[in-house]
Amino acid sequence: MIADWINVADAQRVGEEKLEQGPRDYFAGGAGDEVTLRENVAAWGHWRLRPRVLADVKAVSTGVAVLGKPARTPVLVAPVAYQRMAHPEAESGMAAGAVEAGAVMCLSTLSTTRPAEVAAAAPQGRHWFQLYAFQDAGVTRALMEEAIDAGFEAILVTADAPPGGNRERDRRNRFTLPKELGTPSLTAATGGEVALTIEQTFALMNHALTWADVADLASECSVPVFVKGLLTAEDAELALDHGAAGVVVSNHGGRQLDRSPATAEALPEIAETVDGRATVLVDGGIRRGIDVATALALGADAVLVGRPALWGLAAGGREGVARVLGMLRDELELALALCGCASPADLTRAHVRRAPATSVYSD
Ligand SMILES: Cc1cc2nc3c(=O)[nH]c(=O)nc-3n(C[C@H](O)[C@H](O)[C@H](O)COP(=O)(O)O)c2cc1C
Repeated sequence: MIADWINVADAQRVGEEKLEQGPRDYFAGGAGDEVTLRENVAAWGHWRLRPRVLADVKAVSTGVAVLGKPARTPVLVAPVAYQRMAHPEAESGMAAGAVEAGAVMCLSTLSTTRPAEVAAAAPQGRHWFQLYAFQDAGVTRALMEEAIDAGFEAILVTADAPPGGNRERDRRNRFTLPKELGTPSLTAATGGEVALTIEQTFALMNHALTWADVADLASECSVPVFVKGLLTAEDAELALDHGAAGVVVSNHGGRQLDRSPATAEALPEIAETVDGRATVLVDGGIRRGIDVATALALGADAVLVGRPALWGLAAGGREGVARVLGMLRDELELALALCGCASPADLTRAHVRRAPATSVYSD
C-alpha cells in the first residue's frame, strides 16, 4: 500500500517490480559503467549538515519562491521522457501528483502527452517545459510555443544532449519503444504521421547547438529560459551572458557522459559563480530530504527529482507521485527543524561541511 511507504526506496522497490526489464532498465540505467549514476546518489552523502539548535522551530515551512512565485516545496519534478511506459496515467498522472504535493512539474519534449492535456489534468499546477532543439528551427519553435500557449511558465533548454549517451543496458536489451507509444507534440511539429523511434528522434535534433542559439531562444521567448545540463562555473557564466534566467546543474541523471562529476560536487562552484544573479537548480541522485537540505545549503534555489517521481508513477500513478514528493517534503521539513531553520531560505553554506575522509560512505 502506498500509505505504507516509509521512504523513496520503498517506492523504487514497488515501482521497479511493476516494470518489465526493458522499460525498467531504460528508466534506471546510466551511461557506460554507470560511475556517474552511482556517484550522483553517493555524493550527497559526502557532505555533513551542521545543525544549529535552540532556534524556535515550532513553525517550519518548506515553502519557497520559484521564479518569483510560491511553491509548497523546493522539490520539482524533472523532465523524464516516455512516461506512458511507466503507467497509463503518464504525464497527466505525474502532473496531478505534483500539484497534490505542491510541486512544480517540468514536462519533457519527449512527452507522450501534449502540454494542453497535462495542464488540463492539473489546472492548479505550475508547469515548465524542457526543450530539445531540433535541426529544423521551426520544429523547436512549434514545441516551445505549444507549451507556452498551454500556460507553461519556463523553458529548460537541455544542453547535455544530443548526442544520446552510451546506454549499455538498452543496447544489451535491444530496447525499443513499444509500438503504440508516441510523442504527439513532436509528431505534430515534424508533420509526421508515425511515431519516431528514440534513434530517429535524436537524429532529428540539432547537434550543432551553441551559446548563440541559447541567446536567440532567450531573446525570442516570452517566458524565462534555463540552461539544463551544465557542470562547470565557466558554462554557468556563459549561460548568464547569453540571457538565461537560470541554470540546472545536471548530468542528465548519469545518462550522458560517464565519469562527469556528481552534481553534489559540481554545485558549489556554480552557486558561487552565479552568486544570486540567477536561479540555480540542481538534479541527480536526490533521494532524501537531507539531500535536498544539503543542495539548498550549497546554494541551490530548488532541486529536481527524476527517477523518484517516476518510481512513484510506476508504482501508483498520481497517488504514487504525490506520496514520493510528500515524503521528500516531510523529510525536508524535519531536516530544517533539526538544523534550526524555519524555512529553506534560512539554510546557508554554514549549514554544511565536507564529510570526514573515512565514513560509512567510503568503500
Ligand atoms: C528515464 C529518464 C528519461 C529522461 N528524459 C529526459 C528528457 O527527456 N529531457 C531531459 O532534459 N532530461 C531527461 N532526463 C534527465 C532528468 O531530467 C534529470 O536530469 C535526472 O533524472 C536527474 O537524476 P535523478 O533521476 O537521479 O533524479 C531523463 C532521466 C531519466 C531517468
